[in-house]
Amino acid sequence: MKKSRIKLVTAGLLAAAMVCSASPAVYAVTSNSIPAVSTSKTAEDDIIFSTSFEDGEGISEFSRRGEAETIELKEDDGHTGSCSMIVGNREQSWNGPQFLISERCEANTEYIVSAWVKTAWYTDINLSMEYTDTEGERHYSNLKSATSQGDWVEISETKISFTEDMTNVYVYFEGGTADIQVDDFVLKKAPVIPIEEDIPSLKDVYAGYFKVGTAITPSDLSSPSTMALVNKHFSGSITAGNEMKPDYVLDKKASLAYFEETGDDTNPQVTFSAAKSVINYCIKNNIPLRAHTLVWHSQTPDWFFKEGYSDDGDWVDKETMLKRMENYIKNFFETLEKDYPELNVYACDVVNEAWTDQGTPRTAGSNNTQSGNSAWVQVFGDNSFIEPAFEYARKYAPAGCKLYYNDYNEYMTGKVNAIVEMAESLKAKGLIDGIGMQSHLDVRQGSDAFPSAAMYKNAIAAYAATGLDIQVTELDATIPGNSDANYEAQAQYYSDIMDAIVEYKDSISAVVVWGITDDASWRATQYPLLFDANFKAKPAFYSIIDGIEALEPVTTTTTTGAATTTTTTTTTTITSTTEPSTDVVYGDADLDGKVGISDVVKVMMYVANKDANPITEQGLINSDVYGSGDGVFISDALSIQKKVAQIIDTLPES
Ligand code: XIL
Repeated sequence: MKKSRIKLVTAGLLAAAMVCSASPAVYAVTSNSIPAVSTSKTAEDDIIFSTSFEDGEGISEFSRRGEAETIELKEDDGHTGSCSMIVGNREQSWNGPQFLISERCEANTEYIVSAWVKTAWYTDINLSMEYTDTEGERHYSNLKSATSQGDWVEISETKISFTEDMTNVYVYFEGGTADIQVDDFVLKKAPVIPIEEDIPSLKDVYAGYFKVGTAITPSDLSSPSTMALVNKHFSGSITAGNEMKPDYVLDKKASLAYFEETGDDTNPQVTFSAAKSVINYCIKNNIPLRAHTLVWHSQTPDWFFKEGYSDDGDWVDKETMLKRMENYIKNFFETLEKDYPELNVYACDVVNEAWTDQGTPRTAGSNNTQSGNSAWVQVFGDNSFIEPAFEYARKYAPAGCKLYYNDYNEYMTGKVNAIVEMAESLKAKGLIDGIGMQSHLDVRQGSDAFPSAAMYKNAIAAYAATGLDIQVTELDATIPGNSDANYEAQAQYYSDIMDAIVEYKDSISAVVVWGITDDASWRATQYPLLFDANFKAKPAFYSIIDGIEALEPVTTTTTTGAATTTTTTTTTTITSTTEPSTDVVYGDADLDGKVGISDVVKVMMYVANKDANPITEQGLINSDVYGSGDGVFISDALSIQKKVAQIIDTLPES
């Protein structure tokens, strides 16, 4: 298709645009040089609470997490001024000073916390968050970490927010057991940054190809800008980033209670209290959910595999574990159906990450003791737990829910072979519908990206050859730092990967990006996503939409496993193949009904090479906005850009 050619030209133009950067309007052509929507400093009155602890001021706002802990004023040792707060007698690493933010802050609003901290040599201090859900369960998450070498280190601006069903929301400092000193603690309201409304919607661009989705966590729900991006670009499919994993769903208290009451220790109980807000968001917005994940060696508690549900008990035998597995999967789907009958669970990762890169089972043991080990292999001796997991999922999952095997490094030859062999055997028994390619990729310097786009495409081809569906389930691509060069390499790589995906569109039903903005990614230090911390589309975003051809509506009927699904996809108009309309919409070069950065790029490309990048007759009329009537030139692109950046109010400019 014409896509890669167009993108190459774009790259040239973007470089050209940089040369003209003396004029702010020209400079704005690259996505990372579009005028920042908001970089303004927080106004004084946005500060909710701040203290540098001089004369003990502010200390009483912090409380202890550990029984024995002491919180005192430390004189003659501050990051600024002469004092700080010191917390001693910390018996556990989670002991530390906590600050109740739900008392001072509102739900569904974004705040920023920063502080300077100091502790013993080479100790990591975490800024963490705790909240209590509607069922009284407490939840904890690490927000940011800094390593002190006995000196002051900054826990720099960290976003925090919560929803109305979270109570007792604290931020706290933890890590090691040495004394922790805190200074210059600031809690302020984050500026509300509007998202770019006039860029194309990813999910609309790909509507004729596959669903486009993302993973969200409950705290994303309380960030209005994040959710605006989700609604616009990713509302084709939602995965809970963590909250439907065994660690969150398996309910130890309820399982023990059931065991005590009935004497049956093979019926693990489940709860969706952590996932509730994400599930309700999907229901309210009619978004299909990918359930992630049932059977996994990681983020799964040891007690699930132990005698009497005790963390340090003996491993149970295979027969007991089979019963526990069946009941867990049964309870998982039955509880979802009972409590959330309107939820559309359209896909489920039944087994996650069971094969090593070499295509062998994992080492037996607890992942919680030795990362990478599998308690499933410990109990079953090998990967023979996979088939029953799919059998039970098929038995209890709702009819429309497709069942996937999901893995990372899914392009490594040994792993590809093992997955294909396993999938074919499960397919022959009608137990599996698809393969999930996590797609946690690494751009490196660009030329040495791993995997290469070719290697990735080979893996898609191998999975497509099984005849099963494919979903890209956790796409992100890391870079070594936030330089322009890295962002450009990332854009090129995303584009190449997307080309491979588009080539196999008939075998791929969803592409899910693992998170929305770089700063909130699980690999935040490596800027792997399509939007930056200011909610602005990165070059990678533009690289995967430029030149995507609109597709005619298609109706596909897929028979997978037991289920037959009929899907109708809709047409999108992104490229300039549309007939002229009678209405002139000045600035709308690509005829998508809106004036945005895609129109600027389109005009720039046209000016650079009319033959390679034609614009329709109507598009040319719409684009002639500077010196109207004289044709389309670079000055027209600049005028459209000025309109997009709200430097001018109307088009034509002259
Ligand atoms: C990650 C989450 O995004 C993190 O928040 C968490 O700390 C670790 O797990 N493969 C998977 C996902 O299947 O569930 C993982 O998600 C990323 C790797």
